[in-house]
Amino acid sequence: MSAEVKIGLIGTGGIGKVNARALDANHRGEIAALCDIIPERMDEFEKELGRPLKKFTDFNDLVADDSVEAVFVGTPNQVHVPASLAAVRAGKHVMCTKPLSDALEPATRLVKEAEAAGVVNMMSLSTRFSPDCLYLKREAREGFFGDFYYARARSVRRSGIPDWNLGFIEAGGGAFRDMGVHVLDAAWWLMGMPKPVSATGVAGAKFGPKGIGYSQFQSPHEDYWSKYDSDDYAGGFIKFDNGIGLQVESFWACHMPPEVQVELFGTEGGARLRPVQMFTTECGAPRDMKTDIPKCWPGSWQNIAEHYLDCILDGVECMSPLRHGLIVQAMLEGVLRSTETGRETRMDEFCDIL
Ligand SMILES: NC(=O)c1ccc[n+]([C@@H]2O[C@H](COP(=O)([O-])OP(=O)(O)OC[C@H]3O[C@@H](n4cnc5c(N)ncnc54)[C@H](O)[C@@H]3O)[C@@H](O)[C@H]2O)c1
Repeated sequence: MSAEVKIGLIGTGGIGKVNARALDANHRGEIAALCDIIPERMDEFEKELGRPLKKFTDFNDLVADDSVEAVFVGTPNQVHVPASLAAVRAGKHVMCTKPLSDALEPATRLVKEAEAAGVVNMMSLSTRFSPDCLYLKREAREGFFGDFYYARARSVRRSGIPDWNLGFIEAGGGAFRDMGVHVLDAAWWLMGMPKPVSATGVAGAKFGPKGIGYSQFQSPHEDYWSKYDSDDYAGGFIKFDNGIGLQVESFWACHMPPEVQVELFGTEGGARLRPVQMFTTECGAPRDMKTDIPKCWPGSWQNIAEHYLDCILDGVECMSPLRHGLIVQAMLEGVLRSTETGRETRMDEFCDIL
């Protein structure tokens, strides 16, 4: 393999371009091919990158191209597994945006095959790779928190149902998989990735199917919102085998101020993620810690791109393998399933890869 990894971008929409720009800006990565079912999107991005690229409308053709060594999958949720699986079966390294999938079973199949194929397999997780989260992870490793015993994770939009791609609102989409995934992943990762044992919760859609609550308070055409078939809010509670409890909430629309927050409770210290705040007790008095995230730390997308390339070229151990995405997906699906069954979901009965 050359010192520069030739990457194929599958899905040239919002998140595909954000990840691709960072990969292309890295001296060890090069976007070499594009795939989208809307050819004009590829033409526009090719123009932006300023050089001729290979273009495909079927991801099977992109992954079959010998010059492509690795892919980034930035399609709607429902296409994450089919596209990633095609790449894995063609022996290509794969990085996928969140959530890993639209359901648990395909996600499990993908992870088993990706691990068996031995390719680099990575989740692109903008919250986990953010300077704030990396800072708290360093503090956790250095013992600031003592033992974790509880966490709260929430992502709240006042009127933010996506109006630009049906994949978001059709089955397999929804607020919980779209946004709950970020804060859940961050809380779980920061606490050392304990094994989930049960999940319970509620979910529903109070705004989307009525054509309200969409991005920027603008209602899309009825042709769009009449296809609503997912949640627009969900709240759940997950218990872990070491006794930790985690409360997770996600709202695409509600009558509350917007917020994205993770709160960690440890025996020695606590913290909030946005902005980073750390709390402890010293000599019997409360002490709010000074946090000093170095200004020179790169942002999430640069971190993600660099790590993917380091994993491919230097064999660095991946800090966000698809397996992590699968366990987070299992927790999300466990909460959603509990909504349907009206009972707690036992995770060992629900997912065979924990
Ligand atoms: N912070 C983050 O990590 C972050 C932020 C936004 C979105 N996302 C995720 O990215 C995904 C896409 O969201 P978006 O906002 O970029 O949507 P988008 O609609 O802007 O982009 C998706 C693109 O995929 C293309 N596409 C659809 N089916 C395809 C197929 N079969 N083959 C090739 N291309 C196909 C679409 O034509 C579109 O151009 C979602 O799963 C979302 O959860 C992640």
